[in-house]
Amino acid sequence: MLDRLTAIPPDPILGIITAHAADPNPNKIDLGIGVYRDEKGNTPILESVRQAEQILDTTQTTKSYLGPRGVVGFNNAMNELIFGKQSDTVSGNRVRTVQTPGGTGALRVAAELIKKAQPEARVWASDPTWANHGPIFSAAELPMEPYPYFDRENSALLFDDMMAALQQRGPGDVVVFHACCHNPCGVSPDLEQWEAISDLAAENGFMPMIDLAYLGFERGVEEDAQAVRMFARKCPELLVASSCSKNFALYRERVGAVSAVCTDSEKAADVETVIHHLTRRNYSMPPAHGTGIVDIILHSEELTSLWLTEVTAMRNRINGLRKTLVERIEAAGIERDFSFLKRQTGMFSFLGLSVEQVRRLREEYSIYTVDSSRINIASFNGGNIDYFVEGLKGVI
Ligand SMILES: Cc1ncc(COP(=O)(O)O)c(C=O)c1O
Repeated sequence: MLDRLTAIPPDPILGIITAHAADPNPNKIDLGIGVYRDEKGNTPILESVRQAEQILDTTQTTKSYLGPRGVVGFNNAMNELIFGKQSDTVSGNRVRTVQTPGGTGALRVAAELIKKAQPEARVWASDPTWANHGPIFSAAELPMEPYPYFDRENSALLFDDMMAALQQRGPGDVVVFHACCHNPCGVSPDLEQWEAISDLAAENGFMPMIDLAYLGFERGVEEDAQAVRMFARKCPELLVASSCSKNFALYRERVGAVSAVCTDSEKAADVETVIHHLTRRNYSMPPAHGTGIVDIILHSEELTSLWLTEVTAMRNRINGLRKTLVERIEAAGIERDFSFLKRQTGMFSFLGLSVEQVRRLREEYSIYTVDSSRINIASFNGGNIDYFVEGLKGVI
């Protein structure tokens, strides 16, 4: 039977990682990879995570199954982190959060939940969106269609076009939003624009599905949750897929959560049982380690404050690199305007280069990016930023 299968080409990002690893040039730079890096080019374990892991190690007494809800303390803490401790959403018990294997697992569970609730639902996502959104929704047999979002000419938000397209959406439609730090384009609506988008969702009755993979990386943990909270205040229903991969740097531990906001507490309790049914038939029981770490951090004032300091440091480093990059590009006499890089947020931005320019960067300078010219800003450091600018100048 397996003889019928043919090889599937690797993801373009994986191809870049392999080609970069094999390149002997000591100046080589990998701008494709999707993880945060520090000034030394490492993706370190956070100190708050290290301390929590030690506590977990000394206090855990069993490796027996957790049960379908997973680490309940994690679920509750994420609920409060995302929706706000004092919010009506949390106090009214309208929301249920259940741990998942990463943000990807959360998206997949959310997609299956949508399919179960309304098999003919249609899913809409920004053009462009995270490359895995389409495959995740189509795995749940939900085709995904684009709505206008990114103005490639001006590297900005196509707000009016987006609103005009969303005006056409209504009940039975699910609209995917990136709460902050849009991947791949780095452009987010401002608070006033989020107000207008969430008003439209409430008026027209489409269901918002929020991808929250970078909480804390745009303006701050509380600030980056604002868009989600607006939707939760105004809309009867909402789904959120959150990830602790980036903000807790727990990538390989696969920590995330799916949150379902429902019309009332009884419906939320019903929906939670459907989530358990979906995860049971998929991976049966959730893992304990990563969520156990986050549970300990978010239930300790001291560790929470250490974690917030670490998130702030990561955010400040990325924003600082955005400024430095623009300054160095201008200082190198490159005439093309790259100032949009400092207006955008999060780890990713498009350089706006052609496929030919991307190829030349790779072949002539050993600077690796995907064909779309999406770069990970956190890949830069004092030792490679000038070489990158030299390469950029060489190809434009
Ligand atoms: C927009 C977006 N959503 C979801 C995810 C998935 O995160 P995780 O690694 O936790 O599955 C990512 C990861 O890069 C992402 O960029």
